[in-house]
Amino acid sequence: MCGIIGYVGGGEAAPVMIEALRRLEYRGYDSAGAAVIDGGHIKLAKTSGFVAELDKKIQGGAKLSGKIGIGHTRWATHGAPTDNYAHPHLSAAGNIAIVHNGIIDNYARLRERLIAEGCVFLSETDTEVAANLIARLYAKCGDIKQAVAQAAEQMEGAFALGILCEDYPETLVALKKESPLVIGVGDGCAYIASDVVAFLNETREIYRFEDGEIAVITRDDIKFYSPELRELTKRTERVDWDVSAAEKGGYEHFMFKEMLEQPEAVRATLSPRISNGRVALDIELPPEYLRGISRIYFVGCGSAHYVCVVAKYNMEKLARVPSEAVLASEFRYSSPILDETTLVVCVSQSGTTADTIAALREARRLGARVLSIVNVVGSVIAQESDYVLYTRAGPEIAVATTKAYSAQLAVTYLLTLHIADARGTISQTEYEKLLRELSALPNKIEQCLELRDDVRRLAELYSDRENIFFIGRNIDYAMSLEGALKLKEISYIHAEAYAGGELKHGTMALIQDDTLVITMATYGALAGKIVSNAEETRARGASILIITTKSVADTVRHISDNTLTIPDTHELLLPSLAVIPLQLFAYYAALVRDCSIDKPRNLAKSSTVE
Ligand code: M6R
Repeated sequence: MCGIIGYVGGGEAAPVMIEALRRLEYRGYDSAGAAVIDGGHIKLAKTSGFVAELDKKIQGGAKLSGKIGIGHTRWATHGAPTDNYAHPHLSAAGNIAIVHNGIIDNYARLRERLIAEGCVFLSETDTEVAANLIARLYAKCGDIKQAVAQAAEQMEGAFALGILCEDYPETLVALKKESPLVIGVGDGCAYIASDVVAFLNETREIYRFEDGEIAVITRDDIKFYSPELRELTKRTERVDWDVSAAEKGGYEHFMFKEMLEQPEAVRATLSPRISNGRVALDIELPPEYLRGISRIYFVGCGSAHYVCVVAKYNMEKLARVPSEAVLASEFRYSSPILDETTLVVCVSQSGTTADTIAALREARRLGARVLSIVNVVGSVIAQESDYVLYTRAGPEIAVATTKAYSAQLAVTYLLTLHIADARGTISQTEYEKLLRELSALPNKIEQCLELRDDVRRLAELYSDRENIFFIGRNIDYAMSLEGALKLKEISYIHAEAYAGGELKHGTMALIQDDTLVITMATYGALAGKIVSNAEETRARGASILIITTKSVADTVRHISDNTLTIPDTHELLLPSLAVIPLQLFAYYAALVRDCSIDKPRNLAKSSTVE
């Protein structure tokens, strides 16, 4: 989704902003732009297309000289991805420039009012409305901070703004409301950005910026104000993310690097929460509360939703709590029945997915407690939840999630085990066995990653297929869902996931010679069933690729054209191993097909609009 950068300091702003915008490219975008103040005047450059084109247009900064600036990558929502619609947007008089993420819900009403007051607009965007609203208020009060506060009062929706005003040639103004924005402090310079990754190469010292706040930033002073313009006192925090983790580290794609980082992401997520042979969660969940939970809703979007599907199966199996996995985009429209005995678990890498935020707010409004599983520290979902269990995956750059997905699964195992223990539904022997297997998980993921040459060969073999089906039962069905999504998302091969038993109710009609059916057969208890389902497709000409475990392999191999075998583990944890060949398969199929792996077409890393 859109990215914001702002810089004020002693050096040239444009090269710093171009570098930062490159780091934000992973969010997905289709136009880019930047503005600086030089000699008391705002100068602007914008282009449809990539940051590289913007860089070319401004000749590496030579044509956009200035020591203060704002930059933006835009992912079109309102209006086409053209030069004109790219940010920054100027006020009609050209004295105010802004970059903006989010949506101003009441922009049409504000626009009409401004037009009636004589304002002329060049685009249909809500951003241009914000620029003109601020300019109009500034013309009346003569103080930029006050004008921004008044505009914030009038604008509804979720937004983050970076603002330049010609009368303040050394001051950057920022405003945040429910859209991410963070402020970085360097040596004689400062930054604003929608994601800390943008300036992590320059500084790790940040100020967290809360909803409704306004920041007035010069190269050596940052002042924060409440919506009523009361000055606030804040302390900087240090971000401990590894810079190299946000860079490709010599690999061709972020996705590949992030797949290889999975053992570490899972280890970092699990190990601080296992202590003295017990699960030690870093949140206070009183046992009497856990015993009184009547239902758990697991809520998320895309891959995060598929983590929820695994969690639902496991929670019911181990802790015997009735559980549902619900798509966040459907949750609040499904009249969920919630009260204080309902726990809603929101799963999100970014913590800014609009549908998940909406589900969270609805859950809280209806009186449920919300526990979130989030990767980005301090994100909206983390801030608004009753409890947060962070995944420790580090920054995930590729649009296709891999290491965050694995870290999310790991947190769901801990939570399930903890709740089962509190409710007395697990024996001591089983508890110890599961903990042992949890601790062994990172090494077993490593072993699965070693299958990559075999997976590559198979992906090359099947990469020309038009349609690929994924089938499985129970947790293997949950894995089929993730496998099909990964494949569609980055290789653009049409893929469908089915619960094995469902094929005969319609979809079997699509099976013909050469259809590839990737059969998930890791769950021993249902291996016989899925073999029958796969055999039915084979009888109709399908090729079968089986993903199975060492102990199940002998009972399923006879029906497959090819088999990939992963290590054994506790049945609840199988998804963490089974997902690895699925991710690798999607990756290598996309590679052969020469797809844009890290930034698939039409997709963005974080979906901040519903
Ligand atoms: O940031 P989130 O975890 O909330 O994102 C949810 C989905 O948009 C995300 O998992 C998406 O499906 C991935 N691109 C899949 O690889």
